[in-house]
Amino acid sequence: MSRKQIAIASDHAGYDLKTTLAGELAEMGYQVLDLGTDGPQSVDYPDFGSALAKVVGEGEVERGILICGTGIGISMAANRHPGVRAAVCWDETSARLTREHNDANVLALGARLLGVEVAKDCVRTFLSTDFAGGRHAGRVAKLG
Ligand code: RB5
Repeated sequence: MSRKQIAIASDHAGYDLKTTLAGELAEMGYQVLDLGTDGPQSVDYPDFGSALAKVVGEGEVERGILICGTGIGISMAANRHPGVRAAVCWDETSARLTREHNDANVLALGARLLGVEVAKDCVRTFLSTDFAGGRHAGRVAKLG
């Protein structure tokens, strides 16, 4: 597993934001594994949430980013996979707290709800914040 590799996927509603964030991640030095979708044509978000959850859940990639219209449907799909803790975030604080308290390994964003700069802030914070451990560790273990 490469610590610098990150997976990203979206449905059609998240396609434009995915393209923007993939570029941002590359600029940050990440090797980006883009699992689609590859255009604005209508697709089904569970297919892309599941594809990303598979590589994160199996340990191929440490963390992932999912985008749909709200972040909700695609996070639901991802959270059906063992080892995946996908969190819908809407600002820097939610992105920080889900890393510190939940050890979230997948960030889910709503392209129809967030501005691009807020989405970038979520990504930067999600990737730079460590799990706090301590009292949170046992709780996260119960999720498994
Ligand atoms: C697609 O129209 C939309 O339903 C999807 O992107 C997502 O918001 C579902 O949760």
